Amino acid sequence: MSNQTIENRTITPAKSLRGEISVPGDKSISHRSIMLGSLAEGTTRVSGFLMGEDNLSTWKAFESMGVAIRQTGADALEIEGVGLDGLVEPGDVLDCGNSGTTMRLMSGLMAGQNFFSVLTGDKYLRRRPMKRVVTPLAAMGARIWGRDGGERAPLAIQGGSLSPVSYASPVASAQVKSAVLLAGLSVDGETKVTEPHLSRDHSERMLTCFGADVRPFEGGVSLIGRPRLMAQDVIVPGDISSAAFFIVAGLVTPGAELTIRNVGINPTRSGIIDIMIAMGGQLELLNVREQSGEPVADIVVRHSRLKGVEISGDMVPRAIDEFPVISVAAALAEGTTTIRDAEELRVKETDRIAAMVSELSKLGAQVEARPDGMVITGVEQLSAGQVSSCGDHRIAMSMAVAALSAKGDVTIEDAACTETSFPGFWSLLNEISGS
Ligand code: S3P
Repeated sequence: MSNQTIENRTITPAKSLRGEISVPGDKSISHRSIMLGSLAEGTTRVSGFLMGEDNLSTWKAFESMGVAIRQTGADALEIEGVGLDGLVEPGDVLDCGNSGTTMRLMSGLMAGQNFFSVLTGDKYLRRRPMKRVVTPLAAMGARIWGRDGGERAPLAIQGGSLSPVSYASPVASAQVKSAVLLAGLSVDGETKVTEPHLSRDHSERMLTCFGADVRPFEGGVSLIGRPRLMAQDVIVPGDISSAAFFIVAGLVTPGAELTIRNVGINPTRSGIIDIMIAMGGQLELLNVREQSGEPVADIVVRHSRLKGVEISGDMVPRAIDEFPVISVAAALAEGTTTIRDAEELRVKETDRIAAMVSELSKLGAQVEARPDGMVITGVEQLSAGQVSSCGDHRIAMSMAVAALSAKGDVTIEDAACTETSFPGFWSLLNEISGS
């Protein structure tokens, strides 16, 4: 977030990596719990909520629109829903911080509200593309303005009544799909979105739990507008995107054995598990169960000899946030890993292709950038050195994983950004790495 202080972290190679851990709640599901809890009738109780900076941006935004949200435990909330038409005009600009999910999903929601709002964010978010949501929302009749002809935030939204749309999204993006579906909540009629590959479906699952009529079909999903959303108890599972750092850490660190409890394994998110198994990783899923409409499991991971693989197509959205840490696994695997069809990585919190190529190279990895991915040839061991997070939480944590089995200490500059999605990351890593 904008007020983050610059902080360096030095990682000493791990003596061992053993233990039983849990990771904080899923970021995507936590955002949606506030959004749908606010629009529902009654009190929604959320447990396992991620108190990360991104989610706190969503929390504050809904408070500014008149929603009472109370913290009732370390990771528990109660949201007093105001109903579909109960939000009030925020008196000030809504600051989405670093959170693309907050900005894009809220654009959809705000477009159908009868008031004016302005969404802004930190310098990273203000660089990211927004036309991908502005275009379908404009097709529904929304009035949205932004810099560069609507491409960049701040976005100013004059909400009003919208018409149904059938939108063929050119990108497999849950943020685009969800923005259109949330706009569709206010519409009389059916809203449809199709996408080239299935992106994460947490919005669809949670909307269904809250009582909306959501119908997935081959290649897309439809929603019947003006539902009556009813408050729910939502249990948020551990975030597989946070667990991913410990999955890869366990696989690449000699002697490691870790159990990660209570991780969401929604098939639209579990690409990291399939990719690591394809690379030869020893992973076991135990105690598979369902919570609040989402599949959950405990994951056991053991140090393994990894080999290079090819990753492309449908697999890409299923592992979209994990490519920084997948590139670390590939940098230490035998042979070559090729990542294709992943040009979306260029418009994440930072350009994650450029960032991983530059930072991993500083530790002696063999990584080449491609317009839509990376080609990585594994080495025996990475070197000591100094790297940067590039201001991106997932780059910081991926470089920490790379450091665990390096020849010496690795210093990560600008490391406080892990608070975006994983408060407590550094102490958890320290706890289990015996350093
Ligand atoms: C998210 C969707 C993904 C992901 C982001 C969270 C969401 O983005 O990268 O971290 O919560 O919907 P895209 O949908 O743009 O791929």
